[in-house]
Amino acid sequence: MKTTRLTQMRTLAAIVLTVSIPPMTLSGATISGTSHDLSAMTNSAGQICVTCHTPHNAQAAQLVPLWNHAATAATFTLYSSSTLKAVPGQPSNQSKACLSCHDGTVALDSFGGKTPAGGGLMTGEDKLGTDLSDDHPVSFTYDAALATANGGLVTPASAASVDSAKVVPLFGGKLECASCHNPHDNTNTHFLRKANAGSALCLTCHNK
Ligand code: HEC
Ligand code: HEC
Ligand code: HEC
Ligand code: HEC
Repeated sequence: MKTTRLTQMRTLAAIVLTVSIPPMTLSGATISGTSHDLSAMTNSAGQICVTCHTPHNAQAAQLVPLWNHAATAATFTLYSSSTLKAVPGQPSNQSKACLSCHDGTVALDSFGGKTPAGGGLMTGEDKLGTDLSDDHPVSFTYDAALATANGGLVTPASAASVDSAKVVPLFGGKLECASCHNPHDNTNTHFLRKANAGSALCLTCHNK
């Protein structure tokens, strides 16, 4: 049967990708079947990357490389506290990309300049909304000066990564959603860059 053969082929492709590519490498095999696999949406034409990236005619606002999804235009309420030393700004591109689905204001299938085909807005617990005051701060510079001012932070290895192993990235020195999350890999659940057992993710940055 056609569908069975297709499934077999996809399974085979997944196996080949899994064995031939090291786990840190980006591959469709790790997005496939996760909640970031929106290939079933009617205007995705069975493709996985297309909801977020395109090889050609990308969005003028290049939130992240070759970005293909309509961007959120929301103004966000930011995290603040009396002890925070960092100065979070309105979400910068790397975080705005995530919020272009996760703030619940842009249709999931609004990509490629296409008219949404009825994919709807995000709802439920994965929707952060436009109020980020109850979320870990993002979109601020995390450098040696901040680590010193705070007193309880690891000094980042570079402007590209907190740790020298480059598991937890920074984007132009800034902490963004994608510092903690890898939208392409759900191995650690919740698309986390690092499993958070024993709060290992938190302890990559916080000396507590
Ligand atoms: C749900 C949205 C989403 C999907 C689906 C997605 N990406 Fe991404 N991608 C992002 C975001 C956001 C970034 C920027 C953050 C980062 O670098 O991890 C990114 C960054 C990238 C980068 C540059 C940084 C890097 O990791 O090398 C490449 C290359 C890339 N994606 C390729 C792909 C390919 C290929 C697919 C399909 C197999 C895909 N992406 C599917 C959201 C997505
Ligand atoms: C194209 C839309 C889109 C973009 C862009 C996107 N997501 Fe998602 N994300 C989704 C959808 C859809 C779900 C599943 C929602 C649901 O099940 O209700 C999801 C789920 C998640 C989950 C929960 C997964 C789980 O298993 O608990 C996390 C974490 C997440 N996304 C993080 C991110 C981050 C971080 C970015 C940016 C780097 C991002 N997403 C970009 C559409 C998107
Ligand atoms: C400092 C690390 C960190 C940052 C930054 C971060 N997250 Fe998360 N996020 C987590 C962790 C850890 C979890 C898993 C929480 C759990 O296990 O309950 C999570 C869970 C989620 C979930 C699943 C639903 C939920 O509320 O548990 C979504 C969706 C999500 N994050 C999206 C985002 C988006 C979008 C951003 C940027 C605006 C972001 N995250 C920034 C660490 C982070
Ligand atoms: C990528 C690095 C990184 C990761 C991972 C991370 N944090 Fe943070 N966190 C920071 C930085 C930097 C600040 C800003 C501290 C400041 O401004 O003094 C911060 C701020 C906070 C604050 C607010 C502090 C205040 O004074 O208002 C709390 C609470 C916090 N983080 C808890 C966590 C928890 C819990 C985790 C794990 C789920 C986590 N963080 C993961 C880097 C990180």
